[in-house]
Amino acid sequence: MKRGQIGSKGIYEQLKIQILDKTYSPGDRLPSSRALADELGVSRTTVTVAYEQLMAEGFISARPGARAQVMPLALPVAIRKGSDRRKQAVSFSDFAKSIVEMAEPPAKMKCPVADFRYGALAVTDFPVNPWKKALGMALGSRRETLSYDDPQGNLRLRTALQAYLWRSKAIQCSAEQILIVSGSQQGLDLCSRILLTPEDRFVIENPCYVMAMNTFAASGAKPVSIDVDAEGMQTSALPGVKARLAYVTPSHQFPLGSVMGVARRMELLQWASVNNAFVVEDDYDSEYRYDIKPVPSLYGLRDESQVIYLGTVSKTLAPFLRIGYMVIPKDLIAVFRKAKMLADRHSSLLEQEAFAEFLESGQYERHIRRIRRKNSQRRDVLVETLQRRFSDRIEIQGDNAGLHIVVWLKDLPEKMEPYFLESAQKSGVGVYSVKRLYTSKSVQKPRCVGLVMGYSALTEKQIVAGVDVLYKVVSS
Ligand SMILES: Cc1ncc(COP(=O)(O)O)c(C=O)c1O
Repeated sequence: MKRGQIGSKGIYEQLKIQILDKTYSPGDRLPSSRALADELGVSRTTVTVAYEQLMAEGFISARPGARAQVMPLALPVAIRKGSDRRKQAVSFSDFAKSIVEMAEPPAKMKCPVADFRYGALAVTDFPVNPWKKALGMALGSRRETLSYDDPQGNLRLRTALQAYLWRSKAIQCSAEQILIVSGSQQGLDLCSRILLTPEDRFVIENPCYVMAMNTFAASGAKPVSIDVDAEGMQTSALPGVKARLAYVTPSHQFPLGSVMGVARRMELLQWASVNNAFVVEDDYDSEYRYDIKPVPSLYGLRDESQVIYLGTVSKTLAPFLRIGYMVIPKDLIAVFRKAKMLADRHSSLLEQEAFAEFLESGQYERHIRRIRRKNSQRRDVLVETLQRRFSDRIEIQGDNAGLHIVVWLKDLPEKMEPYFLESAQKSGVGVYSVKRLYTSKSVQKPRCVGLVMGYSALTEKQIVAGVDVLYKVVSS
């Protein structure tokens, strides 16, 4: 910097860094304001203003006629603003240590032809105007004060949900047992915090929903993976397993899509009861059943004191709303309510009220019926196009429910997968591997390339074009 170009703020910043760096240690004297002004080619007032600021913040003290002196600092290790230099390694919590190595979901890619990413919905499927209206009503509703609401969730919404769960999923619970959460993800996190301690065990499906696996593993507990077949988790492997919790997706196993039969459901609940364990039932997409009848939830099948039920609007309205709900055994309500309060006080009230309005007016179920039809058509197009193109070179799983299917490319060995995924992407199509959803200690690892193909964000045209490209990639 040229002489005379620095201002009071710059001098203040530089001196502060030097004091924090211990270039000037406590007790050292700074140059006199006159000497520094001469050296920097600025007016004495410019330096005085900087010194006054340092004094006001307690970095230096000054007596008339004497040079300013650096004060002892309360902070042992000073961190320079904007610097990534750290003098000592951060001592992370056990929680942080267990999450630093966790893989994140695949990054979003540019896929001009079609992106079969699972979890996205079509923008055109969102009920923009009705939702705007419901939000507007929430915003316009008369309130006495702007204050925190109930940590457990807005009572109007819990009451509306209680009726909806009974109507649509045959779940009999009271509004008092419902907890509104920020997506089912927060429900998983609360279960992990409340029910697991380090060195506990938890049962998880193999392959599984990795977000659930990671959330439970973050507590320090260890997974016990149980393979999945055409009827869901193989519960015959449960006897003898000591675990505090079992996480399952019985209505539509994620990712393979199987529905857990009633015999296995009973076996699972029996195991939970004998082991004093909880079953976390993730009912993430049961609104979408195409060729099969609704299956009653695990909750209420037997003794509901062992089951924690999780639902979400991420597949029916939009994942970005972050609205989920839990049904909790009565004796756990108080602790879940407190954990939710510590996490974020409560979920956003406007969205809760808008959702209540949707449920009460019947719009939610009408909306579900409408997008179920659309997703059923998308699924038909995907399955038909795949079958027409690949005929018996593929095997399709889990296509009678949900918003994704699993496709096994039988003549592409598993080791070809990285090349295949890369070539597909270079050709403008995003496809995602099933393999990464298998736990590392898996007995049952895929032998050929397997894909999780979501279709709910795509038009029928994109689906056909995407499959055509995949066929060319496989055949090249
Ligand atoms: C198995 C499973 N559970 C739950 C969810 C939804 O999570 P959330 O409600 O946190 O958006 C998903 C979303 O993709 C999922 O695949």
